[in-house]
Amino acid sequence: MTYTVETLSQQVRNTLLADPGLSGRDTVRALLEEVARDSAFAQQYLGDDQPQRKLLYQDPDLGFAILGHVFHEARRTQPHDHGSSWAIYAQIAGVTTMDGWEVVEPATAETPGKVRLRDSATLTPGTARVYNEGEIHSPRREGSAKLIRIEGNPNQSGPRLAWEPV
Ligand SMILES: [Fe+2]
Repeated sequence: MTYTVETLSQQVRNTLLADPGLSGRDTVRALLEEVARDSAFAQQYLGDDQPQRKLLYQDPDLGFAILGHVFHEARRTQPHDHGSSWAIYAQIAGVTTMDGWEVVEPATAETPGKVRLRDSATLTPGTARVYNEGEIHSPRREGSAKLIRIEGNPNQSGPRLAWEPV
């Protein structure tokens, strides 16, 4: 099936309205895996000339945001969570290694928390993974990559805390 931002956002919206809980997110994850395998979608919205981060859609009512990411170089991101928002990462091209971290020492507004590496997941093209509220993660990649990402409620996610690996 071929998707557009319009059909994708409508399906995400319908899914989250019918099932706002964890299983609804998993349905959205499975949907994103299908979209990640749709080469027409990638061609239309995630061309090589697209910016590193592009907001493709934000739902005016539920608040979720669909973002396209086109990375041209290797990149390593610091451990982070998305506050009180959840996020789904779907790989379109390239490979992302997603490290998951457990808290050793909680963060405060002034002091970064400390985290220990818990596991690493490899996102290959056509795979997607959910990160629930407060789950600390950090993507890294050795070369160029393309991803679709959905953030659950980015406008209400609250302040982000800083985390340092030990
Ligand atoms: Fe993230």
